[in-house]
Amino acid sequence: MPQMEDTKCSFLFCLGICIFICSIIYLKATVFNTPRAQSRILTCRPFLPQCEALGHSRNGTRWQSTECHLEGYFTAPVLNCSQMWSDFHFITKALSKEEERYPLAFIITIHKELKTFVRLLRAIYAPQNVYCIHVDEKASQDYKNSIQLLAGCFHNVFLATVSERVTYAGFSRLQADINCMSDLVKSSVRWRKVINLCGQDFPIQSNLELVRYMQSKEWRDRNMTPGVKQPKDKRYRTQFHYVEVQGSHVPKLVKSHRKSPPPHNLQIYFGTAYYSLTRDFVEFALESQVAKDFLEWSKDTFSPDEHYWVTLNHIKDAPGSHVNGSWEGAIRAIKWKEHEGSLHNGCKGHYIRDICIYGIEDIPWIINKQSMFANKFESETFPEALDCLEQWHRLKVLRQAAVPIEPSWHLAHEVDTS
Ligand SMILES: *[C@@H]1O[C@H](CO)[C@@H](O)[C@H](O)[C@H]1NC(C)=O
Ligand SMILES: *[C@@H]1O[C@H](CO)[C@@H](O)[C@H](O)[C@H]1NC(C)=O
Ligand SMILES: *[C@@H]1O[C@H](CO)[C@@H](O)[C@H](O)[C@H]1NC(C)=O
Repeated sequence: MPQMEDTKCSFLFCLGICIFICSIIYLKATVFNTPRAQSRILTCRPFLPQCEALGHSRNGTRWQSTECHLEGYFTAPVLNCSQMWSDFHFITKALSKEEERYPLAFIITIHKELKTFVRLLRAIYAPQNVYCIHVDEKASQDYKNSIQLLAGCFHNVFLATVSERVTYAGFSRLQADINCMSDLVKSSVRWRKVINLCGQDFPIQSNLELVRYMQSKEWRDRNMTPGVKQPKDKRYRTQFHYVEVQGSHVPKLVKSHRKSPPPHNLQIYFGTAYYSLTRDFVEFALESQVAKDFLEWSKDTFSPDEHYWVTLNHIKDAPGSHVNGSWEGAIRAIKWKEHEGSLHNGCKGHYIRDICIYGIEDIPWIINKQSMFANKFESETFPEALDCLEQWHRLKVLRQAAVPIEPSWHLAHEVDTS
């Protein structure tokens, strides 16, 4: 059957040529692609198997991120905003009437990691909400410009009009929130509650879940400021005078005498610096004489953001206050080192200042906590943890949506592996 042999040979020869040509095309596409397209497609980290399990990928498929790098993106002199929304998967429509009717305000204080901020913002962004971004005065000009450029693409995202040089445990940290509040009460958005965040937070609840939680019987008319009467071992913070060395630290004034007791006979409470507050309470905090005097008194204390809100929220006359309140409220999932073995099973990432920087194996614990947000994430040290939570969160948001989903809202697409 020589003819058959010939046909077979020609076929194999053609196949060989085809494979060769295809390889060249493929290599050319891979190696000589434009830098932008390349960075957007080729350098995506794959999701780790632990994450695929949470991501509900169907059999024979896995998730593939569709955007990976933003180097250079926010340095262009002008930005095509609709292109940017789509490239970074921003959800630019309200996902339900329920959410539309209950706008939230957010205060986000940041100083570094543009990419982490973009990811946080797109996770909590909704067009009916309003976002005040406090960029640390000591951040680089490039960073500030990039945030400004990004914010410029949204009618409801703005930078705080007054910006502080924030010191860890200093009054500036509290002042930053207050600066944003002063801006937010002037906003045309009729927001109902304000929630504060830092750059290392990430949401666990969707916007819909936040809205429902804020309207639940327990919290509807109340501020959430988890904390208790100031314990003995925290008294030093408000008993002596401290002075903020800007951008550095907050030492006790040497040889200082004790501070005078707090004004208006206030009982000092101690808690987290995180809160959700009603609009009326914010107005009270900005305008009432009690709040103003207490703010002034707090200026030379240690870490006033951990006593200011929670103390005000125990005043009977403060709107939405909770005079018997304690640690209630699912404000944050945090793994403190001292709670290892009791409240959690250890940190799978690593501890910094006794707080866990989450690794990917912490994600199931975080999800089970069902808090509003989790803290802390670092995209530099444990990038897969944020990749994973982000994808999990977005899938949940899209599942809950009451409007048709736009293709660009997906952070990842399913690719066939069978
Ligand atoms: C996926 O595959 C496994 C093993 O083949 C099977 O047990 C499981 O039912 C499949 N799940 C779905 C959702 O098809
Ligand atoms: C911006 O991007 C969109 C979507 O890619 C495109 O349709 C539009 O023409 C662009 N606008 C400008 C001014 O380049
Ligand atoms: C606070 O607790 C005390 C004692 O448990 C109780 O008598 C009081 O009614 C409570 N006040 C409010 C406002 O719930």
